[in-house]
This record gives sequence, structure tokens and C-alpha cells, in this order.
Amino acid sequence: MSHTKYMSANPPADLSNSQLHGGRDFHSYSNRDQVAVRHIDLELDVLFEERTLRGVVVLSLDKTSSGVHPLILDTMNLIIIGVETSTDGSSFSVTPFSLGRVDPILGAPLTIPLTRDANYVRIQYVTGAIAPGLQWFAPAQTAGKKHPFMSTQSETIFARSWIPIQDTPQLRLTYHARVRVPSDLLAVMGAANNPQKYGDGDYEFSMSQPIPSYLIALAVGDLVFEPLGPRSGVYAEPSVIKRAATEFADIEKMIEATEGLYGPYLWGRYDMLVLPPGFPYGGMENPRLAFVAPTVLAGDKSLVSVITHELAHSWSGNLVTNATWADYWLNEGFTVYVERRVIEEIYGRERAEMEASLGRQVLEDNLATLEDRSKTLYIDLRDRDPEECFTIVPYEKGALFLRHLEETFGRALFDRFLSSYFSDFAFRSITTAEFVTYLKDNLLDRDPRRASLIPVRQWLYGSELPDCAPQPRSDALARVESQAESWLVGETSIQDLDTARWSTHEWLRFLRYLSNNVDKEKMQQLDSRFHLTYSRNSEIAHQWLLISVRNRYEAAYPRLEDFLISTGREKLIVPLYQELVKSSDGRQLAAAIYGKARPGYHYLTVNKLDKIVGWHRR
Ligand code: BES
Ligand code: ZN
Repeated sequence: MSHTKYMSANPPADLSNSQLHGGRDFHSYSNRDQVAVRHIDLELDVLFEERTLRGVVVLSLDKTSSGVHPLILDTMNLIIIGVETSTDGSSFSVTPFSLGRVDPILGAPLTIPLTRDANYVRIQYVTGAIAPGLQWFAPAQTAGKKHPFMSTQSETIFARSWIPIQDTPQLRLTYHARVRVPSDLLAVMGAANNPQKYGDGDYEFSMSQPIPSYLIALAVGDLVFEPLGPRSGVYAEPSVIKRAATEFADIEKMIEATEGLYGPYLWGRYDMLVLPPGFPYGGMENPRLAFVAPTVLAGDKSLVSVITHELAHSWSGNLVTNATWADYWLNEGFTVYVERRVIEEIYGRERAEMEASLGRQVLEDNLATLEDRSKTLYIDLRDRDPEECFTIVPYEKGALFLRHLEETFGRALFDRFLSSYFSDFAFRSITTAEFVTYLKDNLLDRDPRRASLIPVRQWLYGSELPDCAPQPRSDALARVESQAESWLVGETSIQDLDTARWSTHEWLRFLRYLSNNVDKEKMQQLDSRFHLTYSRNSEIAHQWLLISVRNRYEAAYPRLEDFLISTGREKLIVPLYQELVKSSDGRQLAAAIYGKARPGYHYLTVNKLDKIVGWHRR
């Protein structure tokens, strides 16, 4: 199959959609179809005292259209000190530049006029007081409590807050970076590093495979490394490294399983980095170096699907990338689908089905409350902040769509289809419409009878879950539900609940089933038998605390406070605050706890929670 065939495909007539906007990225000012940045050379000083990065970046340009055009970059709160251009990349001359009006969501375009012979642009800059792509941790917010820590989070549109760049997933670039940090700290990037340069505060990295800007990543802290396999290992603070290495011991098996399904892992190494608790996500798929929240370290590998997920992005997302954030389901839906397939290979069908079933339940709960325009796979993002539009829908509904294709066409055929999808579009960014064309050509049109069973349009653009959506089946979870029911109605006593061999997933279904049907007495019974308030499993603790708030089980409130202060992952904390603010005493408690927890959260999390808690910035 030729690459070019799918490069500018329009959606087939019966699937075209006026909302598709032809793959236009509404979240970047860049003019990549006139001038495209293909490579950057980055020099960064990481200044912990000032909580800023001081940078010099040299951008290599590719004139993608004839005529003389300026270069337009994205920036967010960057202080631009000077701009120069060059023909040969060695002698530069100063150039005027202009920073446009600041848009509250997008930041400001930086326009640099170019002469016909300008091939390089050099920019000196400093990051602003608010740089959403950077998170600075005080020593107290780290595991070791002695050294500061910083990490970047560029997805979705925040690379522009630490690098002036064409910040669109439609464009790919390679990079080289030199990073200077305090000499007692280690710098790591999602790129190849130079081991000779270990430990003197001066590091070099290079990423020779073209990646979208949202995958550029850096972290600096008191880090040590532990190898896990021939091409994998984990970085963490010294006090966390052993736990992390044990938890992630299956990583090489996971890489091999994914390769077995979808073709070779193309990024060389696969390392993981455990971040301090304030990190806002469960994981982030930075190439060669996945960032992972410490809440994944449950002690029994029960939450490792997060690392399976980030690994899966090495195919879905990092190799084949969503062209715009409206096509986000191409990253996340595919990744959840792949993740579950890999979990099945390694931990068995039962576990994969439990995770799929829990996923479907969360999806249904969310569909019940979301507005219609947020329930589609392709999301119309014009004039909207991607941060506010991302929900579970692209993840779980996207995975169900692919599973529906798999079940309809058969696993063998669908596996071949997905493998060629990853290789045909490798190192490319595609739109939903391009995917649909590819799907038609390579799967649907080859078997019209089966294709007629797939309501593609409804899957992609409809706000309902199609009736034919796969229903994951887990007998283990069904048994848990019947036990929960039987205990709730008084047929089974708490002693007779057969929980001895329950996995994390069974506990989660049990707790979700109780929801808001449990009085204080029942909560007490559960707690004295199972000590749920003090569960060290972050997902179980989260679910238990949620029903504690719902059912006003105040004995858990001290733990709730501790949990909210020591956890930054949005998925685990935002729902707790949302539940708290439903009552007036809950609102007071939320505000009191939030006051203490807020300094440890990511800037974007604070933005969300300020609104929920009704916090007025002082
Ligand atoms: N790419 C996402 C994280 C992300 C999403 C960052 C949107 C910025 C904007 C990552 O792969 C992810 O999906 N993480 C999940 C874990 C996963 C197991 C569903 C998370 O953090 O909850
Ligand atoms: Zn993901």
C-alpha cells in the first residue's frame, strides 16, 4: 500500500462530515504549509531558584511552499530575548520579530520575517512565570524530600510554554538538546542520551526519529536507574527505585507481546520514569521514556495496565499520530484497545475482560452526564480548550469501536489490518477522515456483508453508544456483583463475603456497586473487616473515599485529606472534590483540604479545581 494514497484523502461521500474541518488544527498558529521546522537544536539551563528555563533554540527550516513567507511559531508566556536568522547555520544576524495578541487558550504567535535565503532561526528566550508545560516540585513534594524536581508535560498544547515551536501534532521534528542542571541532579529526556555525560550536570540528548512537539519531554531530579531488560529500565528517586523495578518487572514481556501483535518496537529503548506524586496523569507516553505516576505502584502489579497503555502508544499515537486534537480518539481509543490485547496476552483473558468491563461501566456513567457534543469520538474543538474537552469517551468508546470491528471481522483479519495500519502510517499524523478511508479500502469494502453490521458514522459522530457496542463479559465481576447485592439486602453476612482471592478489579467493581446505597453502619462493618480506609492501592482508596463522601462516612475523612494532599493524578482527585462540593459541609471540607493540597498540584489541575472548589486566587 502506498503512503501517498492516503495523504490527502477526503472522507468518502457517505461519511463526510461538515464538522471535519479538513484536518485543520485550530490549536496552533503555525504556518507549517509555508515554512516547516524539521529539526531543533535546544540548549537549556534549568534554573530551580527562579523556576524558569533559559533557552537558546536553533530551528532548521524547510520552505514548504514557494514565495517568501515569515515563520510563525507558537508561544505561551515566553519572554523572547532575541531572534536571529542564518543561511548556513553558523553565522547569524539579528532579525526583528513580533509577538501577536495573547489568546487565553492558545498563547501568542511569534512571527519572524524571513529572507529568501534564511534556513535557520535562532531564538533566545526565558520561560514565563506561568508555564503550564512545566511542573516544579519543592523538595518536600518529592519522595526523598531533599532535592527539588522538575518535569515537563507538553501534551496537548504546552510544548509552546517551554520552547518556541510549531506546536501542532501535524508536524514532526527531530531534535538535539543540551541541558544544564545542578550537578547533584540527573536530567532525562524522551530521547537517546549520552551515558559518558552522566553526573556532571551537563547532559546531551538526541531524538533522531521525527516526533510531534507534544512528545518532547524533560525531567530533572535526584534520580537513579535500574535496568529491567535488554532494552528497558526504570528511573526513579532512590527511595522508590526498588518498588518501581518490582512493579514494572514484566515490561520486556509486554514489549514482546505488543511486537508479536503489531510489529517491531521502533524506538530503540523503552524506559520509564516515576514522577513525584503531584504529576497530573497516570502516565504519559513520551517516546523512549514513559512518565508514570507513583500511584501505579500498588505492590502487586494490579495497576500496571497504565504502563501497558503508555507502551501501546509507541504504536498508536507515537508512530501514527492524531493530526489534530479533535482526532484524539485515534491516539487514545487505539491505545486502550491495544493495551487490553497486551494485558490479555500476559495476564490472561479474565483480567483483560475485567478491565474492559470496568472501562465500559465508567464510560456509561460518564455518557449519562456529559453534554452531547462531548460524547462523539471525533470532537468538534473549534474555539474550545482541548483541556476542557477531554473525557473518557475517546478512550473507552474508541476501544469499543475497534473491538466491534475485531469481533465482526474476526481477530486474525483485524490484527492484520491494524498491523498494516501502523506500518502504512508510521511516523505520520492522520485525521479521522483519513482513517475512515483506510478502513473502507482495507477492511469494510472487502466484506460488504460484515461491513453492513458496523455503524461507522454513528460510532464516530453519534452521541449515543451504538446498540451493537461490545459488552465485555467477566464472570468474576458478575459473581462480585451478586455477592454485593446479597450483602446489601441482608442475605449474606459480612463474614460470609468471599473476598479472600479478590483482585483489585473485583474490589473496584464491589465498591462501585455499593455506590450510594450504604449507610454508616454498613460502611463501618466493611471498614472494620477490610480496612479499606487504609488501603494502599490508589484505585481502591479512591473508590472507597468516593463512597465515603457520598455516604458521609466521616471516619474516612482524615484519610481523605491525606489522600488528596499526597495525590496529584486528576483522575483520582477531581471526582472526590466534585463529590465533596455537592453538600455545604462538604464544600467547607473541600476548601479546607484544598488549601493545603493546592501547592502540590499541577498548574492545569489547579485551574480545574479552583472552579470546582470555588477558590479565589489570593
Ligand atoms: N496521553 C495520555 C495523557 C494525557 C492526556 C496528557 C491528555 C495530556 C492530555 C496518557 O497516555 C493517558 O491516557 N494516561 C491515562 C492512563 C491510561 C491508563 C488511561 C491517565 O493518565 O489516566
Ligand atoms: Zn493514553
